[in-house]
Amino acid sequence: MESEMKCNMSEMWSLKMPKGLDLEITHHPLTMRSVVNLVIAMERLKGSGSVRSTKCTDENLLNFMMESIVEEQTVFERGSAPPLQFRRTDEYQCSVTDSKKRSLVLVQNSMELHAMMLQGGAENSKVYLNMSTYIHPAPSAEARTVALGIRGTNLYLSCHKDGPEATLHLEAVEDKNSLLSIRSDSDMVRFLFYKQDTGVNISTLVSVAFRDWYISTAVDNNKPVEMCLETAQRHRTFNIQHQSSNLPRAS
Ligand SMILES: *[C@@H]1O[C@H](CO)[C@@H](O)[C@H](O)[C@H]1NC(C)=O
Ligand SMILES: *[C@@H]1O[C@H](CO)[C@@H](O)[C@H](O)[C@H]1NC(C)=O
Ligand SMILES: *[C@@H]1O[C@H](CO)[C@@H](O)[C@H](O)[C@H]1NC(C)=O
Repeated sequence: MESEMKCNMSEMWSLKMPKGLDLEITHHPLTMRSVVNLVIAMERLKGSGSVRSTKCTDENLLNFMMESIVEEQTVFERGSAPPLQFRRTDEYQCSVTDSKKRSLVLVQNSMELHAMMLQGGAENSKVYLNMSTYIHPAPSAEARTVALGIRGTNLYLSCHKDGPEATLHLEAVEDKNSLLSIRSDSDMVRFLFYKQDTGVNISTLVSVAFRDWYISTAVDNNKPVEMCLETAQRHRTFNIQHQSSNLPRAS
């Protein structure tokens, strides 16, 4: 918005505003955008030469007013919960096993993760996750927001819900930068999970989009990792260990 404005805001700000006209520039804490309010006593504006006395032309000032009014309406139309912005901070490589010490294995044909007991030789089929952590705009002590990618691929875990059941998917993300910053009202939220710690290196992973749904493994071996509700007879806790190369990403 600032860039579209033809008037230099700081310059305008420093000018003595004409009587009846006032300018407030605030930073919206949730969207990180500047919100400009023009406070006008309307009768002062009508036919008054005073507006012309600033360096900005009437036309610029009018554009400026219209933009600020449009901006305000947008804010109000969104209702009580303005969109939040999740920003990626770090990325860690993690070893993940379920509460039965089973590893996750990628089944290419069905594009599913399965929970399996791996014997010595099969260890190299074990999936490691790249866990990206996000700054939550309203942080909570018990949960970190994360995105989960499969190391060495461009596949990320995502949660969808079409009917009553939420489902877990592996989605190819061509441009990893599309996950840098995610708005809570965008469909990219399907890639985000709340990592809630329940013990040392023990966590549950709840969908940010569908908050009752947990990533879980079946009681039986070699079954797909799926989403489930808290009441389901499935395993919902995972042992997540950062690997030694867990230095924060450069940049
Ligand atoms: C706006 O005006 C201020 C004060 O005159 C000046 O320091 C600043 O560089 C200007 N900014 C732009 C983007 O023109
Ligand atoms: C996984 O994370 C590591 C460490 O941050 C990074 O170097 C690597 O590029 C990531 N790989 C993928 C496929 O995202
Ligand atoms: C937790 O994970 C770290 C590595 O991230 C490991 O060094 C430590 O031993 C683990 N602790 C337990 C109790 O599993």
